[in-house]
Formats: sequence, C-alpha cells, structure tokens
Amino acid sequence: MSKHKDSGEHYSAKKHSSSKKPGKGKRSQGDDACEVTKGRVRSHFLDGETGPWAKKLAEQSGDSNEQSTPPEPSESPAQPASAHPERRHGPDYSAPSSIDIVADPVLHAIATRRSISKLDPETPNDSDLRELIRTVSSVADHKGLKPWRFIIIRGDDRHRLGEALDEAGEVQRKPGKINEKPLRAQLLLALVASPQHNPKVPEWEQQATAAGAGHLLELALWQAGWGVMWRSGKLANEPAVRRLHRLQENELLMGWLYIGAVPERYRQRLATSTRPLPDPVQFLDTL
Ligand SMILES: Cc1cc2nc3c(=O)[nH]c(=O)nc-3n(C[C@H](O)[C@H](O)[C@H](O)COP(=O)(O)O)c2cc1C
Repeated sequence: MSKHKDSGEHYSAKKHSSSKKPGKGKRSQGDDACEVTKGRVRSHFLDGETGPWAKKLAEQSGDSNEQSTPPEPSESPAQPASAHPERRHGPDYSAPSSIDIVADPVLHAIATRRSISKLDPETPNDSDLRELIRTVSSVADHKGLKPWRFIIIRGDDRHRLGEALDEAGEVQRKPGKINEKPLRAQLLLALVASPQHNPKVPEWEQQATAAGAGHLLELALWQAGWGVMWRSGKLANEPAVRRLHRLQENELLMGWLYIGAVPERYRQRLATSTRPLPDPVQFLDTL
C-alpha cells in the first residue's frame, strides 16, 4: 500500500469485470485504470517479492525468460498423517521466518495502526470514503452475501445521534446542553451488520464479516493518512438509536468509526513511539 495518491489509478466498479459491454471498442479512463489495478494484482502474486511463489520464481529465474506458471498447490503436499506417528505439542518455530513486518508496507501498516481518540476536524470526503469502501469490500465473506454497510454521519446528524443516545439512556439535560459524545469527530461512520437468511451461513458468520469490514476500513483509513477510533457503547442497539439509523429488525449496529485528521502533536509522538506488540506466541497453538 502506498500513501501516494493518484486518482487516475482508481477504478470504477461500473467498469469492473462483467459490466463491460462486449463489442464496444471505445476504452474509457476507467477501463485503463481497471487494467492497471488488475495488472498490479497479477504482479503482486506472480512477480511479488514475498511469499512462496516469489521464492519459487526466484529459483526458476535464469532457466527461462518466459512468464512462469505459479506452482500448483499440490507441489507442497501435506505430510501424510502416518509420517508423524508421534504427536508434536505446540507450533514448530525452528525454521526462520521470511516475513519482514518492517520492510513490507502492508504488514507494517497493520502492525503499527493505532486508534486516535482526539481528532482534528479535517475529514475524508464522501468520494474518498467510496474508494476506501471499495478496497475493504474484499473482506472474507462466506457466499459473498455482503452482509454489511456503513452510514455517513456528519454535521447536524451528529446532534441527532446525541439526542437519540440521550433518549435511549433516558438522560435529561439542562436547557441548551447537549450530548457531546458524537461531536468528538466531524465524521462518524456507523457500521451495520446486515445478515441475510442463508441456510449455509449462520448469522454469527455474517456478523464476523461485517466486523472484518470495520477492521479493514479502520486500517484502510489509517493507511490513507486518517485517524480513526471505533466506539460502540451499551446504547448502540437501543430502539431510539436503531430508529435513527433506520435499521431493519435483523440488523445490528456494531458501533461507529470516529474519523478525522491525526493531530500534529500525535503524529510526532507516533514517529518516536515504541509501543511493543504483544508476544504472538499467546495467539498461536496446535491441536
Ligand atoms: C467493536 C468495537 C467497539 C469498541 N468500542 C469502544 C468504545 O465504545 N469505547 C472505547 O474507548 N473503545 C472502544 N473500542 C476500542 C477502541 O476502538 C481501540 O481499539 C482501543 O482503544 C485500543 O486502541 P488501539 O486500537 O490503538 O489498540 C472498540 C473496539 C471495537 C472493535
């Protein structure tokens, strides 16, 4: 991922894949941008500098100048169970890792993302949001049900949210006083899990996908240079709040991404911050 912004390289969903009409020779800028994006995806996997394919390609380079075919998954077969009659306990860390979370920009962004609780007023515009949403729509999604959506809350709509939260919490304020919680950022994005009935995909899986979209969007915003904090609260799914967001009965409000610019003082702190990542060993085990 790159901080470099080049709108010419964005592509439009309308132009993407199947919507392109055959027989129409005229190419639009969107078609070209789509090709650039597809090319990048291809080159990430085929000519990439990380991962097992890249290792194989490096080994093969010199043999041929032609485009190599990616190895079949069967080229690294799983060991038959009988090859390991004795059960090993715990993961095997004896082989060194080839993963570099500092050098790889995507891994680095994931590892260094922070929630920013106090945000400056500048926000991404709705077109920026649309592009970022386009990227996170790659979230893993059983049966491709797309069981999630975001609602933009800006300006006075934040006051309406404050009123709904007060109603839900039965809070009475003195005249002229308002609930200032939704005013902590100029832009809030409500995340809604919107499950569909599907005999193969239980609701919890669809909520997991929606949460995944939320996490990806946090990361995408962060990588695009914006500050974000995901907040929820006990009142998120109380009737007054659900009503304001016009939720269907089966939908779940998963909270709000508070979005804004990262304050300069915080940016400076981040540059020298050394918040350690937790020991990953606690998150990984074998059966
Ligand atoms: C679904 C969800 C709801 C959250 N709700 C709140 C919240 O209401 N208040 C809060 O202080 N943090 C909340 N958080 C946690 C913050 O977004 C943030 O992750 C936490 O402060 C840790 O900071 P970090 O993301 O920089 O590690 C929530 C996180 C998630 C995923």
